[in-house]
Amino acid sequence: MDLLLKNIGILATPTGAVAKSGAEQREISLTYDAMVGIKDGKIVYAGSADDSLNASAVFDCGGKLVTPGLVDAHTHLVFGGWRQKELGLKLEGVSYLDILRAGGGILSTVEHTRMTTEAELVEKGKALLQEMLLFGVTTCEAKSGYGLNTETELKQLRVANTLDETQPVDIISTFMGAHAFPKEYNDNRAGYIDYLINEMLPIVAKEELAEFCDIFCETAVFTPDESRRILLEAKKFGLRPKIHADEIDPIGGAEMAAEVGAISAEHLIQASNDGIMAMADKNVIAVLLPATSFYLDKPFARAREMINAGVPVAVATDFNPGSSPSLNMQFVLNLACLKYKLTPAEALTAATLNGAAAIERADVCGSVEVGKQADLVVWKANDLEYIFYRYGSNLVDSVIKSGEMVISGK
Ligand code: NIG
Ligand code: FE
Repeated sequence: MDLLLKNIGILATPTGAVAKSGAEQREISLTYDAMVGIKDGKIVYAGSADDSLNASAVFDCGGKLVTPGLVDAHTHLVFGGWRQKELGLKLEGVSYLDILRAGGGILSTVEHTRMTTEAELVEKGKALLQEMLLFGVTTCEAKSGYGLNTETELKQLRVANTLDETQPVDIISTFMGAHAFPKEYNDNRAGYIDYLINEMLPIVAKEELAEFCDIFCETAVFTPDESRRILLEAKKFGLRPKIHADEIDPIGGAEMAAEVGAISAEHLIQASNDGIMAMADKNVIAVLLPATSFYLDKPFARAREMINAGVPVAVATDFNPGSSPSLNMQFVLNLACLKYKLTPAEALTAATLNGAAAIERADVCGSVEVGKQADLVVWKANDLEYIFYRYGSNLVDSVIKSGEMVISGK
């Protein structure tokens, strides 16, 4: 073994390689006085303390809690500029969609992203990923969607790939050219959709720059019919659908996610009962984004009802410069517990295994089990409840990514 984590007070982890739903979402494994052995970046032992185990390096966890590395399954990681100037408008009560309609919001970030060089975006991304890692995130998803033209969408996706190759955090890419209509196509929505389908999708697929295709299906953005068309085309290119669904208005996004065979539907603040049932029926993962509800001062998605209906629930930051300018997954865990009323065990599964499943990585990460990538967090905590209770502090002690100690509390 290359590394042995010993003296783990509690090892808390979901188990398995598929998303957990219903009562299974809270069935996690708790091992007291545990050890984890790592070789070649993978977990080779996870269980009770065993004095016969030895390794070239030993890390004493001091009786602390250890969990899988957190998975942030929904971020808009790569963008130019920030949008703090919108804070004043927001405080005056101007709505998110009204800011977008007036050419601000996503469209102002599009302008900045077009003007920012690839190298600058890589530098910015590095710093953001380092902050993520400090909060315990070892894998994240990253969406494009601040280019809205071929050149800049490809630039964003290349930046995500470069960051994936050069930084410890694993990044899974999603093409989101359907994030808004660019101002050049203000009076020609159909023209933009044709451009996206006929020009952008084939290049993204050919250059293998993304695994998923996402769309902002929302009032004043993409209608369910437009969304369906784009996502079905994306499927033909091997990009599996994801959907920003029913975030602000209930327009049938959850139902459509089930219909097109999406791997996940995200936001879902206003998802209808039928939509939730359809998602359960087709095993679509709900990626819920409580920090966005918090920041936009919107209701919180009906997570408990989704779990009861049998929908696997994941949680993520939605990190972006407009509706969720935070990449603190620990805050997301706190909100999942306090606002969605998930139990700590359910929330842990949501932020690890179910997040991994939402980006088709549940066979690789999301739990501490033999054969999985050695992505682990050692917490400044002696039990699981503590990290859901002490909101506002960074409770990460150490982070191990693919077997390497990348953040060390020692
Ligand atoms: O997930 N809702 C659409 N997209 C992002 C916000 C992007 C932005 O405001 O820049 C979201 O909330
Ligand atoms: Fe988003």
